[in-house]
Amino acid sequence: MISEETRKFRHALGAFPTGVTIVTTIDANGEPIGFTANSFSSVSLDPKLILICIDKASINLTTFTESGHFAVSILSEKQQQISTTFASPVEDRFSNVNWQTKTTGSPIISGAVAWFDCAKDKCVDAGDHYILLGRVLEFNSNIATPLVFLRGNYVNLTLEQKMLRAMEDNSTKVLVGALIECRSKIFLNEKADGYLDFPTASSLGSLDNNSSLLGKLNLMGIDASEHYLFSVFESDDDKTSLIYYRAQVENTGNAKEGGFYAFDEVPFERIRDEWSRTMLKRYIAERALSAFGIYVGNETDGAVEAVTKPNDY
Ligand SMILES: Cc1cc2nc3c(=O)[nH]c(=O)nc-3n(C[C@H](O)[C@H](O)[C@H](O)COP(=O)(O)O)c2cc1C
Repeated sequence: MISEETRKFRHALGAFPTGVTIVTTIDANGEPIGFTANSFSSVSLDPKLILICIDKASINLTTFTESGHFAVSILSEKQQQISTTFASPVEDRFSNVNWQTKTTGSPIISGAVAWFDCAKDKCVDAGDHYILLGRVLEFNSNIATPLVFLRGNYVNLTLEQKMLRAMEDNSTKVLVGALIECRSKIFLNEKADGYLDFPTASSLGSLDNNSSLLGKLNLMGIDASEHYLFSVFESDDDKTSLIYYRAQVENTGNAKEGGFYAFDEVPFERIRDEWSRTMLKRYIAERALSAFGIYVGNETDGAVEAVTKPNDY
């Protein structure tokens, strides 16, 4: 168990938004190895130096500290899955990833927003991590949008911009909905005609505005004030922009017009729209893959902590 002080420290560190990188090298058998890291930082322009920090608990620690080279690939927002794979105990993390080598032979992830191929400059002992300082021998970048990590969650900048445009455009109607999860159960409203729906309102609003989404949920005893953008799209039939958030709550509240359904017991045939069904399937799939993000986001949830891999990031 980690201490309360460590939790608080971790939480405070998570307030600094970062990109997400894959740090790689080649092991003694010539096999590529790598892990997800957000501790990347630029250090010096002349000479060109960058750094990343590696946990002393990493199974590849010795390979990285003893290798003479490593590479850092900055992921694009389309590569969230790669981040998950390289942070999970997957047998061969490279099996579903395209990569290539440049000067040093360390793997560079294809489609990365930027990459730095480095000779190891120094390895500095720093508490429970080592700082790997790299001398950049070759690098490149493009204008794809980077993946962003904040407070234990991925932030999709393209979605955020799309949402802002939809909200500013007065000619489109906006409908805001929420996927509310409580311990692997999803909340669905039960309508009079028997169909199930996500809760929606015309604005996200605040807890004390009863006609807004957060207010409506609050009336049901669901405090969704910590929420993240999940999906933004336009309906086919009319000019409505649909903006969906996801939130994880501790209590199921006293919801009367609906209930929480376990992921594997959701009656999908009763969900009204095809896009709602698709969105929920996507949520359940992503939730299963990125358990680490959820762990950090729900620091007080012991049940979640027990089923996920403890992770400092
Ligand atoms: C967004 C994110 C950032 C991370 N940053 C780091 C990091 O900077 N250094 C580190 O050692 N681990 C970091 N991790 C954790 C490692 O990726 C994870 O523990 C991985 O399983 C380590 O692999 P290994 O033990 O197989 O080497 C991060 C994980 C995530 C999801």
